[in-house]
Amino acid sequence: MGILDSGIRNVRNVLRYTIGSGSLDRLPELVDSSGARERGRVVYFVDDYFSSGSDLPSRLGVEATDQLEFVDTKFEPSTDAVDVLAERVKTASSQPVGAIVGTGGGSAMDVAKAVANLLTNPGRAADYQGWDLVREPAIYKIAVPTLSGTGAEATRTCVMTNKRTGLKLGMNSDFTVYDQIVMDPDLTASVPRNQYFYTGMDAYIHCMEALSGHYRNAIGDAFSRETLALCRQVFLEGDMMSALNRERLMVGSYLGGCAIATSYVGVVHPFSAGLSVVLGVKHCVANCIVMRAMAPFYGSLFDEFWQMVQAQSVEVPKGVCANLASEQYDQLYSATVIHEKPLANALGEDYRLVLTRERVEAIFRAM
Ligand SMILES: [Fe+2]
Repeated sequence: MGILDSGIRNVRNVLRYTIGSGSLDRLPELVDSSGARERGRVVYFVDDYFSSGSDLPSRLGVEATDQLEFVDTKFEPSTDAVDVLAERVKTASSQPVGAIVGTGGGSAMDVAKAVANLLTNPGRAADYQGWDLVREPAIYKIAVPTLSGTGAEATRTCVMTNKRTGLKLGMNSDFTVYDQIVMDPDLTASVPRNQYFYTGMDAYIHCMEALSGHYRNAIGDAFSRETLALCRQVFLEGDMMSALNRERLMVGSYLGGCAIATSYVGVVHPFSAGLSVVLGVKHCVANCIVMRAMAPFYGSLFDEFWQMVQAQSVEVPKGVCANLASEQYDQLYSATVIHEKPLANALGEDYRLVLTRERVEAIFRAM
């Protein structure tokens, strides 16, 4: 197996990061020092979780000529929703956009990335779903993660679902990578416990899938190993939401995102995508539901995952696929086996011999 078989042979990471309690207060200064205000206005995309009862929007340093948009994160981003937001930014003012700030979980950070690409490249979001289709550098952008685990702050993609084609695929491009990230572990203190766990586990699951796969990369492996080590500390040593563990998980999320850039996922993510596409289950909780049926594929990692669930007293939904119609199992099968690269990474090129229609249905029923 070759090195860097993801097709990415020269890897770009986030240019700058700052980390530590209270680092959100440095955001206005970082916006200024980037030259954003000489270039134009600043557009802030904020997870609508913070639209009421939170002081976060008032701490961002939004000025009168800037634009603040709350991002609906009830559902995962669609290409249509991204197009609407991009249009709203283009028509809000004749002043150019000097910087974009994405604040929130994976969905809000991904929407900000997608709009930053669309402001400098013609057409619609769906035109750029794929690999290296973005032609012009994006608007300068900063991420402020308020949830840890997806790694969206570090990755070169922004996941979007195209409702017409059913395609869940991002704009994989070096231009999608953030220029600056601000990691303030204070921001994850008020996340509901179950959600904190599900999202954090996205990092653990990405890296256990990558390290169990056939296609590997020396630097990606190192990022993955450190991410797993941090996750073990966070979820097996005391309260996962202590100040120390929130900082560790923020680092794990970032490093896990760096790991994804050079590796593939495995069996969990394709099944999880099936749950998202067919039943509308959100990504991170879907991963955890899939873990119920992963003992045959991930043995000791499966055991460790459930130890973590127990140690943190969190709940993973059960039985979501127990009694579906036969055509829904057909859809789940199709939406799972379509993910050729990760499944070949985990099970080899002949993965369809392992994951037969019957076996896939049995796996979904076991969740
Ligand atoms: Fe994921």
